[in-house]
Amino acid sequence: MDLIDGYIGSFEPELPENLKKIEEYGIKNLVPIIRTESRSVLRFLLKSRKPGRILEIGTAIGFSACYMAYYSASDVRIKTIEKMPERAEIAAENIKKTDNSDKITLCFGDAVEIMQKMCEDNEKFDFIFMDAAKAQYSNYLTYIKKLLTDDGLLLTDNILQEGSVAASKFSVIRRDRTIHQRMREFLDEMMRSEEFNSMIVPVGDGLLISTRNR
Ligand SMILES: C[S@@+](CC[C@H](N)C(=O)[O-])C[C@H]1O[C@@H](n2cnc3c(N)ncnc32)[C@H](O)[C@@H]1O
Repeated sequence: MDLIDGYIGSFEPELPENLKKIEEYGIKNLVPIIRTESRSVLRFLLKSRKPGRILEIGTAIGFSACYMAYYSASDVRIKTIEKMPERAEIAAENIKKTDNSDKITLCFGDAVEIMQKMCEDNEKFDFIFMDAAKAQYSNYLTYIKKLLTDDGLLLTDNILQEGSVAASKFSVIRRDRTIHQRMREFLDEMMRSEEFNSMIVPVGDGLLISTRNR
């Protein structure tokens, strides 16, 4: 898989300077950001679907928010949620430094609380990138169902958990069993859903692409 991922990643266009700096900081400080090979899927979806309103769950230091702004139309509006204060602070600085800062709103706080408020305000998004706490994906889904437009697309990262999601729960170390079970439940729900049409893309740490059955 590493060989294939490396090969796919080798086709990725060079990043603009500001994104390169955020990526370098992330690597140096062990902040997880979307993998190079997974970016090809994100970039492809943004360029082909041209969403106008994007919601990201899990900003970290703002790499993917800035990346999405870079590959979206000039009138895109992106809201991105982060709950860790240190990361949110760095993300705010990074976003401020880009040419696309007016397109991105950083929402500091817990994703569930913020999405609850967004639902009350009847906000809608035509593209949602879910990349936060992996064990919470099913919980987030309750809100995503209300926030995603009928023709919107949900992209979920890290669904294969380095391949361990496909393994029996007995072969997973005890510490990882909860996340293994929750990811399995999330994937079962999405892949068997009558509401959503989903596909697993085994690139990077695995992506799930979902649209509504209409
Ligand atoms: C994988 S990182 C996001 C990477 C980012 N999307 C990128 O590619 O540049 C996941 C982030 O989600 C945040 N997170 C986890 N649970 C959260 C929650 N309940 N609410 C908001 N943010 C959360 C973590 O603090 C972490 O920074």
